[in-house]
Amino acid sequence: MSSPNYTATPFAGKTFGVTVDHLTKKFGGVTVLKDINLEVRAGEIFCIMGPSGSGKSVLLKHIAGLELPTSGQVRIGDYDAADPDTRDKVHLALVFQAGALFNSLTVYDNLALYPREHRQCNEAGIRERVMHALSILSLEKAAQKYPSELSGGMKKRVAIARALVMEPQLLLYDEPTSELDPVMGATISEIIATLREQTAVTSIVVTHDRDLAINIADRIAIIFDGKIRATGKPADFREPKEREIADFLTPVIDLKNPRFKQLENSHE
Ligand SMILES: Nc1ncnc2c1ncn2[C@@H]1O[C@H](COP(=O)(O)OP(=O)(O)OP(=O)(O)O)[C@@H](O)[C@H]1O
Ligand SMILES: [Mg+2]
Repeated sequence: MSSPNYTATPFAGKTFGVTVDHLTKKFGGVTVLKDINLEVRAGEIFCIMGPSGSGKSVLLKHIAGLELPTSGQVRIGDYDAADPDTRDKVHLALVFQAGALFNSLTVYDNLALYPREHRQCNEAGIRERVMHALSILSLEKAAQKYPSELSGGMKKRVAIARALVMEPQLLLYDEPTSELDPVMGATISEIIATLREQTAVTSIVVTHDRDLAINIADRIAIIFDGKIRATGKPADFREPKEREIADFLTPVIDLKNPRFKQLENSHE
């Protein structure tokens, strides 16, 4: 059971690129992903932005193999993301939008679950890994707490710490900075960037957080209504020329906007 070769250095060297190839997804009669094509390079931080309901989480779940395409394919390196065997070949961690922690387990046991189940190292090794991940996220004092005792932002940090313990070669984050105050949001951005620097882990980050994307992404894709609307480097999105993209990235609050009229009417 023990792994004598275990070292505290996270991440097994290899990392993977991701190819999304003509991916379409229908739920019932509704098409939520429409012929998506993306190429995420190995070692890249790739941010996916888009309005609420545009299909970001569904896309991320396809990359994680948690949803199956209606047509098209997602590949992680040369492996089909939809093939259950791929999870044995690629260490993949998904930080869920809502944390997805086990409420009956302490923070410590939530983090220890994956290495225990996969018998990756003995309890001393697991403890070292868990405490290291908790310290990166400033969560040492929360180790014996239950998720119900944590704030939303703390749960989010625990979810990230749990992903780190999995020593991933591909890290998928769904809204890692939502529910966090600006300082903690900036800290999480730094952690994502530092992890990539130290380990070259490919990181795909779904986010509404423009600052996060502009500051840490190598490239950004914008998805509107299930379609990729634009892809480029952060600099391309600092002052976007296209009206629709500019409106999404830097919305101006205008009380005369018809959107507000609709909201007012809906309360009548
Ligand atoms: N399991 C499902 N069954 C049916 N429809 C679904 C399912 N999952 C997602 N959808 C629908 O797919 C669309 C895209 O959802 P998704 O969760 O990907 O949005 P999102 O871009 O992540 O939004 P947000 O920014 O609010 O998290 C939505 O219309 C949603 O209702
Ligand atoms: Mg989502």
